[in-house]
Amino acid sequence: MAEPVKLAVLLSGGGTTLENIFSKIEEGSLDANVTVVIGSRPDAYGLERARNHSVEAVVVERKKFESTESFSAALNTTLDEYDVDLVCLAGFMVMWDMSQKYLGRVMNIHPALIPAFCGKGYYGHSVHRAVLQYGARVSGCTVHFADRAYDHGPVIIQKVVPVLDDDTPETLAARVFEKECEAYPEAIQLFAEGRLKIEGRRVRILPKNEAGA
Ligand code: GAR
Repeated sequence: MAEPVKLAVLLSGGGTTLENIFSKIEEGSLDANVTVVIGSRPDAYGLERARNHSVEAVVVERKKFESTESFSAALNTTLDEYDVDLVCLAGFMVMWDMSQKYLGRVMNIHPALIPAFCGKGYYGHSVHRAVLQYGARVSGCTVHFADRAYDHGPVIIQKVVPVLDDDTPETLAARVFEKECEAYPEAIQLFAEGRLKIEGRRVRILPKNEAGA
């Protein structure tokens, strides 16, 4: 059997998505190891969650850098210290200009159906509030390869949920998060199996027997 895929998880907040990744690894449905968790704020609770799972937690604090360039250079250097296969953004709320070597090896999850309700300023409950204000009938989540723009790169998986008449941002968030908990591990597992092939903006999901061919 192939080695588990080695992950770096980048976050800025509570780490609910990180916790889901840990659960899926521990129950055996995700063939991965979290090598390091990197936080953009020292008070991000996700760092605590990493330590609770005996995973190294590192801070590269955005506030300590004057520009996206200097922050990105520090983050790229920190990441280079760990030999990871895939970088997972998990509520990582700052702009990162990834070095060339990470292109195609960084995933993000967004709690809406990209390209709707995404981009700068759209995160957490602000996304669900915007969906309700707009009156959309469906929402969902998107896992995509990240590029150098917010919520932008090629889409890997999207899952849809209904928006109900009496939804609040909280009830909609909970329904979407259930789908996030399925979608992100599925996308990581496909990557681990070598089954994701980027073709421009599209991602082809290879059948199991074609992977690595
Ligand atoms: C996740 O639900 C993810 O969809 C969202 O942050 C949450 C995790 O945050 N990401 C975005 O909105 C990215 N634009 P947490 O670590 O605070 O629980």
